Amino acid sequence: MHNVDASMKVGKSIISNNIKELTIRRPDDWHVHLREGLLLEAVLPFTARQFARAIVMPNLTEPVTNTVEAEGYQSLILKALAKENVTRKFIPLMTAYLTDMTKASDLARGYSEGIFSAAKLYPANSTTNSAHGVSDIAKLETVLNKMEDIGMPLLIHGEVTDAAVDVFDREAVFIREILKPLIHEYPKLKVVLEHITTSDAVDFVSSMKGKVAATITAHHLIINRNSLFQGGFQPHNYCLPVAKRERHRTALRKAVTSGDPWFFLGTDSAPHTIKDKETNCGCAGIFSAPSALELYATVFEEEGVIEKFENFASIYGPAYYGLETNAGTVTLTREECMVPERVTVADGTEIKPFLAGKVLGWRLKDKP
Ligand code: DOR
Ligand code: ZN
Repeated sequence: MHNVDASMKVGKSIISNNIKELTIRRPDDWHVHLREGLLLEAVLPFTARQFARAIVMPNLTEPVTNTVEAEGYQSLILKALAKENVTRKFIPLMTAYLTDMTKASDLARGYSEGIFSAAKLYPANSTTNSAHGVSDIAKLETVLNKMEDIGMPLLIHGEVTDAAVDVFDREAVFIREILKPLIHEYPKLKVVLEHITTSDAVDFVSSMKGKVAATITAHHLIINRNSLFQGGFQPHNYCLPVAKRERHRTALRKAVTSGDPWFFLGTDSAPHTIKDKETNCGCAGIFSAPSALELYATVFEEEGVIEKFENFASIYGPAYYGLETNAGTVTLTREECMVPERVTVADGTEIKPFLAGKVLGWRLKDKP
């Protein structure tokens, strides 16, 4: 708990023990999976209710690989918003899924027309729907040269795919063997290392002093790898990169509370139906969208630095992407709020949110 007697104003955040409210500039989610079809309709309202904008991942079953497909996907998202009666303005920022065949000219056109905000590098077979990903970074030479020229951010799923590398080491090995040489070769490329999970990533990003940024999920701040095996295998705590040892979780908490502007919010909320999670060869992905802001606020409060939450959630991301900070605000109130047990999709299937049924100490105001 924060011991503040009277109302305290820190930047734009207003913290008060009397009113027990935290008002921050409206945040953005710099990494989210919204899916398509009925799943999109079921999950989108959660993200749109909290965030003004979101960087939407392109790893659909048929990935979004070019400008035309991105425009199509964006309009599906906007239609789903209307169908779900979301009246608040929400801007889906689109990304291009890089493949061995990506055309630099198409990427540049999409970026200059404002359709693409960034491009996503999935090493082939690193995660869900990444089979069409990049087989060898050397094949991206023309694309990366162009992105460097035009200032288009490269978002990276930073794990090697070599089956011989231990799954818990794949991020650290990627940084050492792929990312460092990549940054050396393209020194002006704007890079975001997505959903970092290790102290190795925190140290590397910090050492780059702003040349490389990183998104950090709420779940990697909350669970370590033990939570995958507590009382039996827990498929709803399985995501990629997989949660690591406790010392890595501690390093991530230090990063988000450091006040360093190259660490910012990206939920990596990645919904899969219960059927697809609780099965032989269950899917990787944690669905945190229903309680995203409450989860992060809980972490910042536990660390005793709730006044730093606004910068992490609402200021540093737009600054890195060269966008304006949002004009509106959101308010969190200090009251109990249960994470929903289930979210039902229109076809009757269900999704289980991260920490389903758990009571958190913060509630987004005006939550239905
Ligand atoms: O756990 C994950 N799920 N990690 C990813 O990188 C992809 C995501 C998904 O799309 O389900
Ligand atoms: Zn993701």
